[in-house]
Amino acid sequence: MYNKKVIDHFLNPRNTGCINEPDGVGVFGDPSCGDYLCIYIKVDDNHISDIKFEIRGCPAAIATSSILTELAKGKSIKEAEKITDEDIIRALGELPEPKIHCSNLGAKALQQAIKDYLTRQEKIK
Ligand code: FES
Repeated sequence: MYNKKVIDHFLNPRNTGCINEPDGVGVFGDPSCGDYLCIYIKVDDNHISDIKFEIRGCPAAIATSSILTELAKGKSIKEAEKITDEDIIRALGELPEPKIHCSNLGAKALQQAIKDYLTRQEKIK
């Protein structure tokens, strides 16, 4: 059902956990299945220097969140906010059709984390 890359990211998810004193936090849940994802980001010089995630989700949600952190790490805020669920699926190679919606969690939670970061920056000004 899943390709090797998906299984690898599911069994050995990268960048799990939370970040103490993050610069942005994003939470996104899928009401259709009840799964949800929390993304923490640390930003230095307008780039995502660290990113971690906590999840309650299916294998595909874990794999897509894991690869999302690899895609986002080191990217500028502007580049990272453009990461789409299609980018996540492409990075994994493929996902079974019924699991395609799972990649949405990562893209949306990251956008929320970036929004939170930008809101905090506005408040500091
Ligand atoms: S089934 Fe809910 S995120 Fe995968």
